[in-house]
Amino acid sequence: MDAIVVFASARRDGNTGKFIDWIANELEIEIIDLSEMNISPYDYEHKNLDDDFIPLMNRLLNYKKIIFATPVYWYAVSAQMKIFIDRTSDFLDVEELKNIGRRLRGKTACIVCTSISSEADHSFLNSFKDTFEYLGMNYGGHVHANCEHGYRPNDYKEDVNKFLQAVKSLDVETAV
Ligand SMILES: Cc1cc2nc3c(=O)[nH]c(=O)nc-3n(C[C@H](O)[C@H](O)[C@H](O)COP(=O)(O)O)c2cc1C
Repeated sequence: MDAIVVFASARRDGNTGKFIDWIANELEIEIIDLSEMNISPYDYEHKNLDDDFIPLMNRLLNYKKIIFATPVYWYAVSAQMKIFIDRTSDFLDVEELKNIGRRLRGKTACIVCTSISSEADHSFLNSFKDTFEYLGMNYGGHVHANCEHGYRPNDYKEDVNKFLQAVKSLDVETAV
């Protein structure tokens, strides 16, 4: 499977961690936990270019599909995921990094998320989708787990199976 997961939650073994472990296990793909990396917030002066962000991006660029896994916190992504997304601006600003940014084009981005709502929040999904579009990435779909009553894998089986099929299929545009 030509895919990798970028995961970011305030806890590794929480709802999103369990959900993405299941999915990554099925797909037999690696999970990168942003909380284990040293990635500092966006800096207009780019004094942070020697942190883990560029090496991480170079690693991600080896894959055609990138799965972003995060809980919904206040209608948005987790703080660590937001920092990661903000840092993609480095590719737009720093001349010698522009080539890395261009290599994101044509890759497929998918979302795995959890919240305590019946559906993934629209603002959350839209800000992700708009970001992917801006970066020239294709959107491959999302899967959401409603954890209002705790993490209940049986409730998500059907959605997860659809998502797995979509990610596995070449025609990722048909993803859920
Ligand atoms: C800071 C914070 C903000 C949250 N905001 C939302 C929200 O806007 N909408 C929602 O449905 N759930 C919200 N939740 C609930 C989480 O999305 C939900 O419990 C999720 O499964 C937690 O995943 P985790 O265990 O990986 O942190 C919030 C939880 C926290 C801790």
